[in-house]
Amino acid sequence: MMTAETVRYGLIGAGMMGREHIRNLALVPGAIVTAVSDPDTEQRTLSAAAAGGARAFASHQELLSSGLVDALVIASPNDTHMAILGDIFAAPKALPVLVEKPVCTSTADCERLAVTGAAHKAPIWVAMEYRYMPPVAELIGEVRAGTVGQLKMFAIREHRFPFLTKVGDWNRFSERTGGTLVEKCCHFFDLMRLVAQDDPVRVYASGAADVNHKDELYDGRVPDILDNAFVIVDFRSGIRALLDLCMFAEGSYWQEELAATGSAGKVEAFVPGPARFWPGGGERASEILVSPRAPKNPQRRTVHVDETILKAGDHHGSTYYQHMGFNRVVREGGAVDVTLADGLTAVHIGLAAEQSIREGKAIKL
Ligand SMILES: NC(=O)c1ccc[n+]([C@@H]2O[C@H](COP(=O)([O-])OP(=O)(O)OC[C@H]3O[C@@H](n4cnc5c(N)ncnc54)[C@H](O)[C@@H]3O)[C@@H](O)[C@H]2O)c1
Repeated sequence: MMTAETVRYGLIGAGMMGREHIRNLALVPGAIVTAVSDPDTEQRTLSAAAAGGARAFASHQELLSSGLVDALVIASPNDTHMAILGDIFAAPKALPVLVEKPVCTSTADCERLAVTGAAHKAPIWVAMEYRYMPPVAELIGEVRAGTVGQLKMFAIREHRFPFLTKVGDWNRFSERTGGTLVEKCCHFFDLMRLVAQDDPVRVYASGAADVNHKDELYDGRVPDILDNAFVIVDFRSGIRALLDLCMFAEGSYWQEELAATGSAGKVEAFVPGPARFWPGGGERASEILVSPRAPKNPQRRTVHVDETILKAGDHHGSTYYQHMGFNRVVREGGAVDVTLADGLTAVHIGLAAEQSIREGKAIKL
């Protein structure tokens, strides 16, 4: 039922992540998806039905001029975000927009977006779901509360399944994704900045495409996306962060393992991967482990997340919490959690990491 408080959402890009947004918006009070746009007939039909009969458009331009929406969610391929944002910025009415990460895929686009986005008269929120995973939020809370003393090191290990098949195979080549360290790892670089409350000065990385997608061919080309890497990020304050990414490790019990270590101790968060890829398909709980240096007495606790929220996506409940925040900003105004500048910085770090691998040297930021 629509009320004066109802926010009508338009979804641009209605594939796998688009439907995760639809399932999560269905849990947000006063949210309704009234329109979807996708050039792929099957995807827009599936998503319009998943949204309970939203209007389906073949192009985002038609959606933008429909007058059917109060807020936008962009979940189209990475290299389409820039042009779609350009059309949103040029529309007569400035609408709030939640744009999936990575907000763009190249340094030139980052520079252009920083200018055009600054002139948009409505909120722009870059989707960085990992911030909102309840175990990650608890780890951040422990660091802020001083549990580790002065933070010095932050390590993120993601050992997971290979890249999934996407509509039109857009995720198989770096030219469309920005590269693995932009496409999927901009999340982690954003998280590093959030935990460190600081900006990076230098990135060193080593990585390769060693195992996955080697027997695939697209127009005669083998995918060039990295499937494993180590990335070290040095922050201005001296805090150092590490990403250990492996995308041929889907047998791991934990998909993400995070460790924040400081002068007084260590806090770790352990997050399982999506239930639909695990034997039995049941939801698994995440955990926090707090290990002070003295007295030595590590304490492990389970993080409980509502099963309905877990089942609405592949990201341990985070998409729901992110939408609750975005919905509040749309209704009440106020600052977004993840600004365009945050999204662009995460892309810059990912691009620097890709460059470091190509050139075999540290990249200054
Ligand atoms: N935050 C996360 O954790 C997370 C997870 C998965 C994907 N994503 C991001 O979401 C976006 C979509 O990924 P996906 O996994 O849903 O891919 P997908 O291939 O399943 O869906 C993308 C959809 O966009 C459509 N599309 C292509 N060009 C378009 C255009 N110009 N306008 C509108 N739609 C267009 C495609 O037809 C397809 O249906 C990507 O940017 C991806 O990086 C984020």
